Amino acid sequence: MNIGFFDSGLGGLTILKAVSAFLPQYDYSYFGDTENLPYGDKTEEQVFELTKAGIIHLFESGSKMVIIACNTASAETLRKLQDNFLTQEYPDRKILGVIVPTVEEVIKVGIYNVALIATKRTIDSSKYDLEFNNRSTREINLISIATPELVPLIELGDVKTAAQQAIKRIDEEGGESAAIILGCTHYTQIKNELRSYYGDKKIIFSQDEIIPEKLSAYLTNHPEIEKEITKTGERKIHLSKHRPDYDQIMSQMLGGVFLPH
Ligand code: DGL
Repeated sequence: MNIGFFDSGLGGLTILKAVSAFLPQYDYSYFGDTENLPYGDKTEEQVFELTKAGIIHLFESGSKMVIIACNTASAETLRKLQDNFLTQEYPDRKILGVIVPTVEEVIKVGIYNVALIATKRTIDSSKYDLEFNNRSTREINLISIATPELVPLIELGDVKTAAQQAIKRIDEEGGESAAIILGCTHYTQIKNELRSYYGDKKIIFSQDEIIPEKLSAYLTNHPEIEKEITKTGERKIHLSKHRPDYDQIMSQMLGGVFLPH
């Protein structure tokens, strides 16, 4: 059995790349729902149904656990899927998200004035606010900025324009924030541009740098799951819709760690 990754498109590949570089021994399977991208401007109900279908696809093709490598889908569906669907339909499997590990990391670093950029759906869900309220002993001043314009640009491989657009929005709306959370797995693609622009003025939290260690710790704490994950180094990538230009964008996102097949 493998570790599955679900995303609405290609953005979650950056998480798969980072995880598989950190934990190369395991088998991984990725499903990107490119047919229905973007999720960020869909209704809660639509995101729930599409995410559930994607997770069933991964479970049925051999995933022991699935990481929802998509903030939008994590925000809207994770708790609901864990509570009902998983216990009734797949009691021996697990589903994890990316929001809680990110919130834990920001709290650990001890920054209290933070800007969040994410899709409209993630911002509307208030999931980050909720998790900070539940987990932080000090009040976090979270400035939430919905940036729906970024995902389509990144899916086209136009990282430069996406980064310029993100910087413009953060400068206009991000106030005195000392850190920025890239609250969408697609935005890992613009972290370098943001770091060069902000230097040491703002810390950039990028999920490809957070999830690998958190997953590793999870597997150490859950040996009953870890022992069922096969260790042949296999990587499978499946998209619900393929476009000719995806091959190049995918190679760019996976950065030579391994190529899609
Ligand atoms: N990559 C997804 C996320 O982390 C969003 C992309 C979309 O809008 O579908 O939120």
